[in-house]
Amino acid sequence: MEKSPQTDWLIYCRPGFEQDCVQEALRQARMQKPVIAEQPLIQPCSGYVIVSLNDQSLNYHQLIFARQLVQLHHSISSLPERDRLTPILEVVSTLPGKFGTLWLEVPDTNEGKLVSNFTRRFQALLETALRRQGILEDQAQEMRNSLPRLHCFFPDKSSVLIGTSNLRNSADAIMGIVRQSMPAEAPSRSTMKLSEAIAVFMDRSQQARLLRQGMHAVDLGAAPGGWTWQLIKRGIRVTAVDNGPMKGPLANHPLVQHIRQDGFKFVPRKAVDWLVCDMVEKPSRVATLIGDWFAAGWCKHSIFNLKLPMKQRLTAIDSALGEIRKRLDEEGINYLMVAKQLYHDREEVTVFLTRTKQ
Ligand SMILES: C[S@@+](CC[C@H](N)C(=O)[O-])C[C@H]1O[C@@H](n2cnc3c(N)ncnc32)[C@H](O)[C@@H]1O
Repeated sequence: MEKSPQTDWLIYCRPGFEQDCVQEALRQARMQKPVIAEQPLIQPCSGYVIVSLNDQSLNYHQLIFARQLVQLHHSISSLPERDRLTPILEVVSTLPGKFGTLWLEVPDTNEGKLVSNFTRRFQALLETALRRQGILEDQAQEMRNSLPRLHCFFPDKSSVLIGTSNLRNSADAIMGIVRQSMPAEAPSRSTMKLSEAIAVFMDRSQQARLLRQGMHAVDLGAAPGGWTWQLIKRGIRVTAVDNGPMKGPLANHPLVQHIRQDGFKFVPRKAVDWLVCDMVEKPSRVATLIGDWFAAGWCKHSIFNLKLPMKQRLTAIDSALGEIRKRLDEEGINYLMVAKQLYHDREEVTVFLTRTKQ
């Protein structure tokens, strides 16, 4: 039997979630063709995995635990300390085509942070050399935007994994991290989770269409108010449901109505545009709640968190998302649902769910 060509995929993830990341990628691949190439061992807490597939492909947007998806072409494991440039240039010059962007990346670990001091200095050197050779495009932004990216990922200072990413099947952010800054007025760091979710799940035009001044949102588990703050700053009126206090500017804000009630029992008086939910609860319980809200027509769009259990994390998320899908399908609701473990998510994943037209 003829052997199919093997492709290695380099996937970045949150350190500690390598097993979930591999498990999920293999499952996606097996749905296309059941036979998978042999898998290398996972390095726990390394912040990345390499998955070898036969002729299956991976869809970045449908992977929850993948921060970035890179097709791996070469690895060099003993870069000379005095000249790392030459061996990298040699390898990159064998790759077909040109590249729009060069990203030098490291794992999101303490070791990675140490290596990033080096990559920051090395970036300009490698970029200049690649431009001189015509490998890295030097043209206008529009041209660069249509070419694949070149990734040089340094697990440590003496090794590099060299790969490419397709702009439509990857994250548009270095290290797959859509960084957020902490707004001084926001009452909690959780605010960055919602701002990241908005940036990751919606492009600019969707943000403008779906998050408009004058809309109404319900925030379940709102205190101290980081998520509510993201909504009111966009001019959205918020009913904030939590037995705990809202803090800072939100304690007495004209766009915020604070209701001290159990979020699982709260019923809106009128349908709202948005339901956001950050209550620390079992994923299955949150899934039922979200299904109920959409089935009752109480909201059109939602961003919510599913907290991960200690074990069988992928199974728990699968079952929660499966429950929501089943409920919406039974109700004949058309929808789009995307889930990701965001940079600001620790033991949780964030889900965006929106009704779509027929
Ligand atoms: C992680 S915090 C939310 C942080 C908030 N999103 C922010 O940005 O500041 C979880 C909140 O959910 C609330 N909570 C947990 N269970 C709840 C319930 N059944 N009903 C209402 N609130 C609940 C807690 O009181 C807590 O304030």
